[in-house]
Amino acid sequence: MNPDSSTVERSDKHGLAAGAAAAAPSPDWTIPQGWEQYTADEHAVWKTLFERQTRLLPGRACDAFVEGMRALPIGADEIPDFRRLSDVLMKRTGWQVVAVPGLVPDEVFFEHLAHRRFPAGNFIRKPHQLDYLEEPDVFHDVFGHVPMLMNPVIADFIQAYGEGGLRAQRLGRLPQLARVYWYTVEFGLLRQRDGLRIYGAGIASSYTESRFCLESDSPNRIRFDLERVMRTRYRIDDFQETYFVLDDLEELLALSRIDFGPLYERLGSGPEYDPGDVLPQDEVIHRGSGSYHHPQQEG
Ligand SMILES: [Fe+2]
Repeated sequence: MNPDSSTVERSDKHGLAAGAAAAAPSPDWTIPQGWEQYTADEHAVWKTLFERQTRLLPGRACDAFVEGMRALPIGADEIPDFRRLSDVLMKRTGWQVVAVPGLVPDEVFFEHLAHRRFPAGNFIRKPHQLDYLEEPDVFHDVFGHVPMLMNPVIADFIQAYGEGGLRAQRLGRLPQLARVYWYTVEFGLLRQRDGLRIYGAGIASSYTESRFCLESDSPNRIRFDLERVMRTRYRIDDFQETYFVLDDLEELLALSRIDFGPLYERLGSGPEYDPGDVLPQDEVIHRGSGSYHHPQQEG
């Protein structure tokens, strides 16, 4: 992939979700999952993805992810049934999983999150698309996101994010807020006692990036700082150049209590950063070589 082609953020998209041009199938865009309609081939794609990812994640996924996965009715043999997932989730953190046909508009996405409903694509990628995905499918949304929704802190944070998203949209600050979601819920790393671990769904569900984010010399790994992240563009079509690292998931809960109003005012002026920038004030855990995204600059 051309490393120079790709620091655009589509203003009508929200993270890995949102912004479809297609007609709404219902007022809130939800549809029945249609679990009974999955074919044997579709369950087989799930099994392939599930098994290879489950082999990769020990020692890479954070404890909260592993614990959430263990307690959910998610296994190799079939695409999970959202009704059964929701039964377990509802008891633990009050969340449910609702089916959508793919990308949904931002305000629909935020409304669902604000009401503890996680919109999940009900379709699964084709066998020739195992590592490539234009829209979040059931593997990304369920395998990647739902285990973390079993964690009370993440459950509260994502609800608060939905509420904050509606407000940011009214204030014209959605691009800045979306970066918080991107660099935490989708691509966040966590520093556990036993080392760096994945909690972001975009990496937990990716066979290639779950190794790249932790083991490659190329990307930066920088301590999470809210304002820094809100000023930092991200890549939508390739591995991230920088991963931001939390010391504790509880940091996310603190974020959901912040009044973003004054922050949005500050963000109205001042710099924007490129995905690979490293700043003097950053607490750098690993300074990336850039060898993946900028091979010509090596040596
Ligand atoms: Fe996602």
